[in-house]
Amino acid sequence: MLPEFKFHHIGVAVKDIDSTAAIYVEGGYSRSSAVFDPEQNVTVCWLTRDGYPTVELIAPGDDRSPVSKTLEKVGVSPYHCCYTVDDIDAAVAKLRKQKYVALGKPVKAVALHGSRVCFLFNKNVGLIELVEAPAVIIE
Ligand code: NI
Repeated sequence: MLPEFKFHHIGVAVKDIDSTAAIYVEGGYSRSSAVFDPEQNVTVCWLTRDGYPTVELIAPGDDRSPVSKTLEKVGVSPYHCCYTVDDIDAAVAKLRKQKYVALGKPVKAVALHGSRVCFLFNKNVGLIELVEAPAVIIE
């Protein structure tokens, strides 16, 4: 972790966006449209509610999607926390020195208006995602 991290969202792996989103909407959340991100091979939907952490629902594009294994192993479940940083390349470089493994290079995310994201794994932290500011979610 880095002191400059700002919390952005919790990512939840789901089998079906609409089935899960409906439950949150009943509980007072607003949902965005669902958008397919070809870079990650996933469909994403945002759930927001004043005073609550933003939740990202992530459904697999197909069997080779990064969330397919999570769904097979543990079913629907939270699987990453995401933090905003001002300079994603600098943050990734710092985290590598803290024994985080980057799962790829930073790539543009459709559901964040093209802000770049990068996933990193550390055995004592688990999976985190970084998103470069401004990190504005789609509606
Ligand atoms: Ni995410």
